[in-house]
Amino acid sequence: MQENLIKISFSLNGNAVETEVSPELTVLEMLRRNFRLTAAKEGCGKGECGACTVMLNEQPINSCIKLAATLNKADSLVSVEGLNEDKLMKNIQDAYVEEGAVQCGFCIPGMTITSHYLLKNNPNPDAHAIKQALSGNICRCTGYRKIEAAVKKAADRSSKS
Ligand code: FES
Ligand code: FES
Repeated sequence: MQENLIKISFSLNGNAVETEVSPELTVLEMLRRNFRLTAAKEGCGKGECGACTVMLNEQPINSCIKLAATLNKADSLVSVEGLNEDKLMKNIQDAYVEEGAVQCGFCIPGMTITSHYLLKNNPNPDAHAIKQALSGNICRCTGYRKIEAAVKKAADRSSKS
């Protein structure tokens, strides 16, 4: 039997796109299967770990629990790949590497896109604000201190540039 596909159009990393999705396909699966954008990862698949975080209309979402079929023309989706040329993201990624905050790397796309959202909205966060902002992102490897130090370093560097 032929699958019931739904045609959707929206903005992806700044470009208008169109694709077909099955009703149960998540935004995470759509990014990976339909667009070959594989930065966002599936950790828990239940909205709890943040590995799948992407931006929808300038807000971070867990893309593993958002159905792709709910996207429409007015929606703007941004994944880490869409921030390749972004200066703030470059500062964040550099700081993560310099602080040794990347170990297995699985959580990092979600961590860095969440860090980007934080620093865009609060360029000089204190330790509490950093912890709070990253509270929905789980890392099994680093113990969080290096990640928090990286965010602070990226904030300091961005405020000087
Ligand atoms: S994979 Fe989406 S929140 Fe864990
Ligand atoms: S670096 Fe391994 S889960 Fe965060």
